[in-house]
Amino acid sequence: MKAEPSSFKNSKETMHKHIEKTKLDKKLQAVFGPHAYSEGPLATSGTGRRYVGVKLSTPLNSDQVEFLVDSLSHFQILCISGQNFESFSLAHFERFANHWGAPIPHPSNVRRRGENVEWKPFKDRNVSAVNATFPDQLQCLPHTSPTVFVASNMSGPRKEGEPVSVSPGGDWHVDIECERLPIYVSMFLVHKVPESRDAPGGTWIEAPNDIEKFGSLQENPDEELMRLRSQLPLDGGTAYADTEAAFAALPESEQEVLERTRVHRRLNWKDEGWLAPLVRTNPRSGLKSLHSPIWNSRPAIKPPVLVEGMNAGESRAFLDRLEKHVLQPRFRYDHTHTPGDVTIWDNYMILHNSPPIKTNIHSIDDARLLYRISCKGEPALTLPRNDVQEWLDQHINGGYVTPKEIIRVDK
Ligand SMILES: [Fe+2]
Repeated sequence: MKAEPSSFKNSKETMHKHIEKTKLDKKLQAVFGPHAYSEGPLATSGTGRRYVGVKLSTPLNSDQVEFLVDSLSHFQILCISGQNFESFSLAHFERFANHWGAPIPHPSNVRRRGENVEWKPFKDRNVSAVNATFPDQLQCLPHTSPTVFVASNMSGPRKEGEPVSVSPGGDWHVDIECERLPIYVSMFLVHKVPESRDAPGGTWIEAPNDIEKFGSLQENPDEELMRLRSQLPLDGGTAYADTEAAFAALPESEQEVLERTRVHRRLNWKDEGWLAPLVRTNPRSGLKSLHSPIWNSRPAIKPPVLVEGMNAGESRAFLDRLEKHVLQPRFRYDHTHTPGDVTIWDNYMILHNSPPIKTNIHSIDDARLLYRISCKGEPALTLPRNDVQEWLDQHINGGYVTPKEIIRVDK
């Protein structure tokens, strides 16, 4: 991202991660009206804010967008709660996403035929299985856009006789750090969250008694790292770790070394790859953060990274030590989802992880349904975006551009 002027740089009260709530609310109300207010910090590290009274079903003006973009640059996670499904659709969600970058068709919605890329028909996407699970009780919001990834634990009518099972949490990661232009922002719109709390301890999922079942990096001999990785929400929420606060907490001498460190990233094993900085500076807030300090965040499908000047073993030891630092409880935050929330995070400044989830569910009370869109590139204060087709072809699946009908959804 290139530097753009911040709307708060020249004001007397600069926004920052530990800004007082009253000062933040004053700014929020100046752009969104007197009924808007903030909650937070959401995490003990100071990261995360919830904005209440911010309606995303109407088009945003440039002051409102700039306020939100600046907010994310300081707070790393924003939860804009209370969207009403009577008026807020997935078209509104995609229009909103366009302010943060060019929305990317999710790989699971894309079919490749040689050089050609086409969008999978709706009936072949996992959304159809979701709709068939509790057909009279829950249906996905209508959409056809390939940018909408349906994150759900519903895969069709339940299999008789098969018990409910629990899939373990995932590996700590950022979304698509392994492309030349990584993903900037990802966002969830929350439709349905699990309501049952029948596990011992009153949670949705029982606390793990075997940490090796969590994530796929099972062979790591460092028990403390494994324990930290396995500390995931038991209510279907999303786990985050603040890589800005984690970087800031390191001694200056170590920060200097990390700022000079580059990592060799590759999309696939056969790729030559490229060198990418491990530390990024946010162009608006100036905050420095670690971008995906993980040795191998997708062991089953992607190669591990190499640190410049180190061999494989040294790279792993170097990055495992950083991951252990970042996953300390003081940098962690478990976000509980609520229907109607739009939750946005900056992938350059945050790690995240999926929680353990019940599958083959028998009851609507166990259903979890979220929609995710991810974006690349620069924020846009006004729409439509002005991305050059050559740039889109290079960085966005199929050169996708959100159709005019979605940008003008209310007109
Ligand atoms: Fe992710």
